[in-house]
Amino acid sequence: MNQRIVAVPAAVREQAHIDDAKYRAWYEASIRDPDAFWGEHGRRIDWFKPYTQVKNATFGPGEVSIRWFEDGVTNVAHNCIDRHLATRGDQVAIIWEGDDPADSRRITYRELHAEVCRMANVLRNRGVSKGDRVTIYLPMIPEAAFAMLACARLGAIHSVVFGGFSPDSLAGRIQGCDSKLVITADEGLRGGRKVPLKANVDAAIQRLPADSVDHVIVVRRTGGAVEMDPVRDVYYDAAAREVTDECPAEHVEAEHPLFLLYTSGSTGQPKGVVHTTGGYLVYASMTHQYVFDYHEGDVYWCTADVGWVTGHSYIVYGPLANGATTLMFEGIPTYPSISRFWEVVDKHKVTIFYTAPTAIRSLMGAGEEPVKKTSRSTLRVLGSVGEPINPEAWEWYYRVVGDERCPIVDTWWQTETGGILITPLPGATALKPGSATRPFFGVKPVVVDGDNKVLEGACEGNLCIDESWPGQMRTVWGDHERFVQTYFSTFPGRYFSGDGCRRDDDGYYWITGRVDDVINVSGHRMGTAEVESSLVAHPKVSEAAVVGYPHSLKGQGIYAYVTLMQGEEPSEALRKELVAWVRKDIGPIASPDLIQFAPGLPKTRSGKIMRRILRKIAEDDFSALGDTSTLADPGVVDDLIENRQNRA
Ligand code: WTA
Repeated sequence: MNQRIVAVPAAVREQAHIDDAKYRAWYEASIRDPDAFWGEHGRRIDWFKPYTQVKNATFGPGEVSIRWFEDGVTNVAHNCIDRHLATRGDQVAIIWEGDDPADSRRITYRELHAEVCRMANVLRNRGVSKGDRVTIYLPMIPEAAFAMLACARLGAIHSVVFGGFSPDSLAGRIQGCDSKLVITADEGLRGGRKVPLKANVDAAIQRLPADSVDHVIVVRRTGGAVEMDPVRDVYYDAAAREVTDECPAEHVEAEHPLFLLYTSGSTGQPKGVVHTTGGYLVYASMTHQYVFDYHEGDVYWCTADVGWVTGHSYIVYGPLANGATTLMFEGIPTYPSISRFWEVVDKHKVTIFYTAPTAIRSLMGAGEEPVKKTSRSTLRVLGSVGEPINPEAWEWYYRVVGDERCPIVDTWWQTETGGILITPLPGATALKPGSATRPFFGVKPVVVDGDNKVLEGACEGNLCIDESWPGQMRTVWGDHERFVQTYFSTFPGRYFSGDGCRRDDDGYYWITGRVDDVINVSGHRMGTAEVESSLVAHPKVSEAAVVGYPHSLKGQGIYAYVTLMQGEEPSEALRKELVAWVRKDIGPIASPDLIQFAPGLPKTRSGKIMRRILRKIAEDDFSALGDTSTLADPGVVDDLIENRQNRA
């Protein structure tokens, strides 16, 4: 156990919004009387009609229903743009840094207003109105933020699909929420390589029933040649020329859906996580301010992609609601050189930097020099998200990147939680490398054992949250029963995160990783069931079981056990073919790292695959496989060990 404690530097504490005493006082108040606490903080955003009700939530058992500020009326785009115009119209809202260091753009709040209104008018002219779903499949260009905010302005519900997903995955997500309009770009550009986004959209639409998608709006990014359907497709620049840059913001109820985001779970296909308007924005903006200790004048950079929830809450909505300057980066950490992150920090004088452990680990390999040759003197606060950060990576981030000057906020949260739940606050929390530390205001974590018994004091178990917080997801799109089943049935009456954790004597939380069949590859969530169903769709595959295993760069790698159809022979060529198959089917992030051909999988007599055994073998730790006597055929285990792929 890592006992190192990094105290809050006096200089940080003195200028921070929250110190330890204030943290404790606010936290206590937020738990004692959530209505009073959130009733006050809910006013941090503008309301067209103020709310009189604050919290109205029940986690069951039985009915699960979550509502915040429910009689209030507001609009997210108004809060992220219009309300800032009088005081900061000429301040930069978005700094865009292109893949090529020669490409960058600065967009003021006034320009953002014009751009978002134009985009909204383009959508409105194509029939989009309140409640309609719009799929956004864009690279990291400002138009991605414009598109999200344009939807919010109209009360339309966006579903952003990460540009790394395949046509099949995109098709499933378009169909899943029945969206009639898709916004994409001709091509994306990452690390000097082109990504055929429009061609992927065409391929996705081909897989759908004929009348699924009415309009495809194509932003010109590279200018590469793409096929354009004369009826369905239009270039954004052409459409934007036909409209004005004024568009009123629709008044929507606090619980009106703002966006859907498809995410992987332990079973089945990805589900559409639904976030709504008022509570989400209050929570995203409040966490952005306090977790990063955001102050006027900061230049804030979150390196996530807008295709993930981190990009939604902490590139677009939280920062813009706070009137911040948020940096959007199109490229990758290693292009054109391995110093790119730090060069961008110096170029734009970034003060707050938020990234994922996987990026830190990949940069650590190249040593300190590429970092140390840059200044980074503007940096004040560093953040981490997406997976547990190992203490070695933490120390390197702290010492080499932050010059032992910048607190690291290790923020634990999930697509479902809308915003950060467990995290240090820079001016308040002494840090322990590898620990996400303490709950944010209003968040009530509990650790339970397998029988839903609440564990007290120092302990280890399943991480649940009792009591709702405003940024929480409200339902699964079109399937409320799945919402209840997935999150509130394992431990009735509580929200179950799917993560395991340890709590130490100081009440600090240490996230130990997923305890379900979700794996976390380079900070990206992947359901093992999705990869399995892709593999078994291959004509030569009869059965597949997928588990995670420790991977030095990615956190977890994807390990697939594959049983072939009768008469098929394992080969290197087939292994490559299967990797390419999954890549094409789901997307590059789902590519198996290791494939083991297995004549049989360990199953109980009732036919259930014993994943515990498969995980152990994948971890190259088969000394303690536990009881294998209940297996239908204990002999398969010897073969699995014999032919394991991950050997130290
Ligand atoms: C993991 C990303 C440890 C966790 C915001 C969670 C973390 C899943 C941390 C959610 C962290 C995220 N420490 N683990 N600081 N942050 N995770 O939905 O397993 O893409 O359940 O949301 O990432 O991933 P998601």
